[in-house]
Amino acid sequence: MGNCQCFEGFGLASKKDSFKVCICGGATSIGQQLALLMATNTFVKELSVYDLEGSMVPAEGVAADLSHLEFPCRVKAYSLPAQARPVKDLPAACLEGCSLVLVTAGVPRKPGQSRKDLLQVNAGIAKLVVEACAKRCPEAIIGLIVNPVNSVVPAMARLYEKKGLDPRRIVGVTTLDVVRANKFVYEATGAPVDSINVPVIGGHAGKSVLPLFSQEKACAELSLEHRQFLDQRVQDAGAEIVKAKCGKGSATLSLGYAGYLLGSAVLNGLAGNRTTECAYVKSNVTELPFFASPVTFGPRGVDRVHQLPRLDTYETERLKEAKQILQAEITMGLEYAETTD
Ligand code: LMR
Repeated sequence: MGNCQCFEGFGLASKKDSFKVCICGGATSIGQQLALLMATNTFVKELSVYDLEGSMVPAEGVAADLSHLEFPCRVKAYSLPAQARPVKDLPAACLEGCSLVLVTAGVPRKPGQSRKDLLQVNAGIAKLVVEACAKRCPEAIIGLIVNPVNSVVPAMARLYEKKGLDPRRIVGVTTLDVVRANKFVYEATGAPVDSINVPVIGGHAGKSVLPLFSQEKACAELSLEHRQFLDQRVQDAGAEIVKAKCGKGSATLSLGYAGYLLGSAVLNGLAGNRTTECAYVKSNVTELPFFASPVTFGPRGVDRVHQLPRLDTYETERLKEAKQILQAEITMGLEYAETTD
């Protein structure tokens, strides 16, 4: 087992449509929330919790804790020293057989930083994991919760393409923008929260985030000014949390929840129950090669990337602005992929 430490907790793996899932960065603040929620998903028969040694809690401790939950899932931990290379040092058992890998690894931004400032560091971390997936579970869907999502997803999808693998296996998690938009509309309208579904398109940073309030009937009662205010609030929501955490991190609880929604949609789809969530993927919905929009997940992963609905005048103008910003960030990601080996 080399330098890997491994904890195994036993559970019952009995369900027919059941899948193996790995959480990379499973001992981080986001990773622990995500691992907890995924362990309660009855489609998950086995959960690999992978993190580096010296993380805030050992991956073995996270797995031991989760292994007591009364769900069928079997939880196993894998940890490596910081200087290890997952592609050769991570035991094959961590990733082999995985249908879904959720990656939360990477550093959070600090007050005053933009997500773009994290590109070199976080793309480097994501690349190590993505290369290990390319070797051990090339058919798995890889959900990236790694900022800057707008650049890291194109970079990793391009790396997959260069290896002859399907770039649509790489999915950027933008569900948090939808969660936020839904909650803010609920607060503004009082409409039943579980009936609200605001598609959020574009990307996951600043003005590239475009909530389509025109598509949610509860918003019909809101003035244009109110929608503009909510649009701005969704764009700034990540920074709102960075500020509230006073330099001690960014969103973790809500981001773990959002990752769980995306992960559950993927597993539902794999089990034959086609499910739609917004996600940032290789796309031909606009002239940009990557774009967030509603995506239907099916038995083979990404099944359908939906075309955009008819936007209102405000959203049409905002889309132009979002695309301009997103294009520059996609280019940064693709350049990263071309300039690293
Ligand atoms: C978020 O939207 O909360 C995350 O992308 C974290 C961040 O840096 O804002």
